[in-house]
Amino acid sequence: MEHPIVAITGASGACYGIRLLEVLIAQGLEPYVVVSEAGRQVVAIELGSGNLKDLLGPSGYREEDARDFTSPLASGSFPTQGMVIAPCSTGTLGAVAHGISSNLIHRAAEVSLKEHRPLIVVPRETPLSVVALQNMLTLAQAGVHVVPANPGFYHAPQTIQDLVDFVVGRVLDLMKIPHQLTKRWTGVPVIDAPIILSSAHPELVEGSKDDRLAQDDRE
Ligand SMILES: Cc1cc2nc3c(=O)[nH]c(=O)nc-3n(C[C@H](O)[C@H](O)[C@H](O)COP(=O)(O)O)c2cc1C
Repeated sequence: MEHPIVAITGASGACYGIRLLEVLIAQGLEPYVVVSEAGRQVVAIELGSGNLKDLLGPSGYREEDARDFTSPLASGSFPTQGMVIAPCSTGTLGAVAHGISSNLIHRAAEVSLKEHRPLIVVPRETPLSVVALQNMLTLAQAGVHVVPANPGFYHAPQTIQDLVDFVVGRVLDLMKIPHQLTKRWTGVPVIDAPIILSSAHPELVEGSKDDRLAQDDRE
């Protein structure tokens, strides 16, 4: 069986990579996982532990060290199902766009490109510099799927999990892996559970219009 590769780099949004891994593991696909040095720091900051065993359990995946170029992932002779970098930092985006293989994530992405295997990147940064935009264009022109970590809101998300699953679902679609993570657009808006913004609750917004009117009254 060929396995997918998932890389987690140091952009915010570690939950995207971990959620993707949960689904791939649940489907018995035994993904290879590589976490960059910065990625491990951000995973720990955002999810409470930088240790994959704490987040995913001990089995169902194979973790490779990002410094280990003897890994099978460093060679095109080792067959894989392609690779997802989620989240993808602008640093890794630039390295992959310019063929700079300074860690195993960059090298595995370079291998995916040269072997014409699917490569999906999930960049997370805002605002985007001209350099990052150009690197995304370079990658898209090389056949890479650029899937920004931009959840939609038309499926009436109620939780952070809903927002994460929206992005992960789009990645799984591109990997041609069946899933039921999100409601698909059917042409009919989801109106049973609309998004509730705090602007609908002025008491939650410091300096709200009501506060300003009250202030005006006092003056
Ligand atoms: C808490 C935290 C959040 C970060 N968020 C982002 C981000 O959203 N996008 C990004 O490109 N870099 C972000 N960075 C910076 C990257 O971690 C840094 O550029 C690093 O060199 C990326 O290395 P890597 O691509 O090898 O993982 C963040 C760093 C920290 C500590």
